[in-house]
Amino acid sequence: MTEKTFLTPAYDSILKLKAYQTGKSVEDLKREYEVNDVLKLASNENPLGSSPYVTLAITKQLDQLARYPDSNGTDLKQAVADFNDVHSSQVTLGNGSNDLLDIIARTFVSHNDAIVYSEYAFIVYSMLAKMIGATGIEVPAKRYGHDLEAMLEAIQQNNNVRMVFIANPNNPTGTLLSKQEIQEFVEQVPAHVLVVLDEAYIEYCEESNNRQLIDEFDNVILVRTFSKAYGLAGLRVGYALSHPNVADMLNRIRQPFNVSLLAQSAAVAALADQDFIAKVHKINDGQMRWICKQFDALGLGFVKSYSNFVMVNVGDADSINQALLEQGIIVLPLAGYGLDEWLRITVGTPEDNTRLIDTLRDTLESM
Ligand SMILES: Cc1ncc(COP(=O)(O)O)c(C=O)c1O
Repeated sequence: MTEKTFLTPAYDSILKLKAYQTGKSVEDLKREYEVNDVLKLASNENPLGSSPYVTLAITKQLDQLARYPDSNGTDLKQAVADFNDVHSSQVTLGNGSNDLLDIIARTFVSHNDAIVYSEYAFIVYSMLAKMIGATGIEVPAKRYGHDLEAMLEAIQQNNNVRMVFIANPNNPTGTLLSKQEIQEFVEQVPAHVLVVLDEAYIEYCEESNNRQLIDEFDNVILVRTFSKAYGLAGLRVGYALSHPNVADMLNRIRQPFNVSLLAQSAAVAALADQDFIAKVHKINDGQMRWICKQFDALGLGFVKSYSNFVMVNVGDADSINQALLEQGIIVLPLAGYGLDEWLRITVGTPEDNTRLIDTLRDTLESM
């Protein structure tokens, strides 16, 4: 046994953890490549910003910054509950949905347990397993998406599994499972296993939301965010819907003031403006179609995406990424996911997307 020092982490698996890679920032790029006009299409942010009502709501709170926010998030919880037709006792608020994923895993999974997730699923799931010293069981993907049959088998074969994460649509692949596929899966998952459905991008394919599962299954937790379609990534706010007893457990673990004053007011205003979300959805759809048509014309393979980003196979992704950076464009290379030839590109405004495609075409021709 090696001797413990102040640097010995709680679990050996923490030694294998790599800090979450957020990619280059606009400021990094300006400094490193001396480009002024930087286009960031790497974090699936909303290029249209957020609802104008958000700015109004925040402005009204500016004289309250010396005060702690409502720890219970009463108004926002009620707004989320009304919007989703659940009781407010079923809502848990988070400092972004990442906070909720973290709270959920720490509340219910111990280092003796196991967590199931898919290959190519959002990287945070495997990071959480390592963080709490739990066993992470990564199930091979099927056509870049979740193989629910294989995931169910993995759960049934291991009594230690306490939780399964499913991202729908999935990041970074953009794949979507049908409501029926998810329903059949949940019906077969043993009742002691929690199913965490991460719907961070659900506003881009609203008809596929799995809100109905909460009424039927006490072991399902739905996680949503205001960071993507609602355009509030900088404020950090998300929510979980679950059985009230699950929410009660989560409430014991979360930090007392985990959602800021401005984030709470902004999210209430954002949720009320569904016209903005409809506009975002429509523009994203049109731009996604246009981008994919350009990929076809360039002879590039891509995976059909149901969100606001798309994964494209460019071959030598390292070199293409480097060339894009030098020309002021930030996208996300997916080597960290084992997808060496792929780049994930966030759908931008029409001008953003034209610049991206023109630069990509020039880069491919020059190689
Ligand atoms: C699938 C998925 N879940 C959760 C998150 C976390 O987002 P946030 O913490 O901003 O809500 C992301 C962010 O990229 C995501 O892609």
